[in-house]
Amino acid sequence: MPFLRERSGAKGSPYRWSPEKIAALLFVLLPFALLAARILRGDLAATDPLGLGAPGLGGPGLNAGLGPGAAGGLGGGAAGGLGGGPALGARPLVETLRFLGDWAVRLLLITLAVTPARRLFNWPKLLNARRTLGLGAAALVAVHFGLYCIDMGSFSVVVREIVLRIYLTIGFVALLGLLALSSTSWDGAVARLGAERWRRLHLLAYPITALAILHFFMQQKLDVTEPTLMAGFFLWLMGWRVLQRYGHGTGLLALVLLAVSAGLATALLEAGWYLAATGIDPKRVLAANLAFSYSIRPAWWVAGLGIAVALASEAALRIRPLPARRARASSAVT
Ligand code: HEM
Repeated sequence: MPFLRERSGAKGSPYRWSPEKIAALLFVLLPFALLAARILRGDLAATDPLGLGAPGLGGPGLNAGLGPGAAGGLGGGAAGGLGGGPALGARPLVETLRFLGDWAVRLLLITLAVTPARRLFNWPKLLNARRTLGLGAAALVAVHFGLYCIDMGSFSVVVREIVLRIYLTIGFVALLGLLALSSTSWDGAVARLGAERWRRLHLLAYPITALAILHFFMQQKLDVTEPTLMAGFFLWLMGWRVLQRYGHGTGLLALVLLAVSAGLATALLEAGWYLAATGIDPKRVLAANLAFSYSIRPAWWVAGLGIAVALASEAALRIRPLPARRARASSAVT
């Protein structure tokens, strides 16, 4: 299996197993394994095996925090999305489609996290995992789309829906972008396009992920806890690239400021979305961030994780410092 191997540099056996590639493949297979386990249990009711939408994050929290009369309640997995959905018997195909859609977004973000992680933890070989993770995300999206087509039952209906429903149009554009990246992810394509053109083409990963998150937001009926969380992580990832471009990608203070800014931006985004989608007073949504007894809102997770990453990176780089040249590197942050 050459795609799980890396160059060893040894004369006799030039290739050896790559732990990063193997771990990436296992990670890509995880959603399928979780899905199989749930199918075997006859349970596709809880759409969120990571517990991201459990009461701690999405459940009754925001609803309660906003007080009575908040557009019929924002939490509690209102649309069968985050906090639990219709049982397997109801619409198993749609539940599977949602489940794989959730994982596709997570994998897209994890793929974008490879570059920061390799620098923040001085782990250059992590790059070996990126292609597998990206292709895995594309495969999940392809199956997600395939299930949608099966659910619709006819090609003409699929085309009509994509043209008429803006959230599907956005998802479809993201899908086309992912196909373009996947078809040029092989070594041969890099050689044919040239490194610089290939790099510029693969910058498309950023708008594609943004479109995927927008698609996620738009298809949620009321509770946008998980899309907000994903958007917050995306903001952090983009912010890190800006820091890196200016040579501050591994500075402790810069990373803490980034975490706080990304958290604030997440809170504002959430309030702005609810204002636009439901007309709820943004002050009430922002206040829900302080109702800790009900839930910990996405803004806190983004800021908290960002600070944890900053501290972990500081510790890791003390043990294994970056070579001076790489620490100063300011470009090539894809
Ligand atoms: C990069 C591309 C895409 C990604 C990452 C993606 C991801 C997602 C996510 C995360 C959800 C929400 C799942 C949930 O409610 O928990 C979703 C829902 C959905 N997606 Fe996509 N999607 C993509 C493209 C598409 C395309 C091309 C189509 C079809 C043309 C599509 C059709 C749907 C439908 C119909 C739903 C809503 C299912 C329902 O609740 O009734 N998606 N998608």
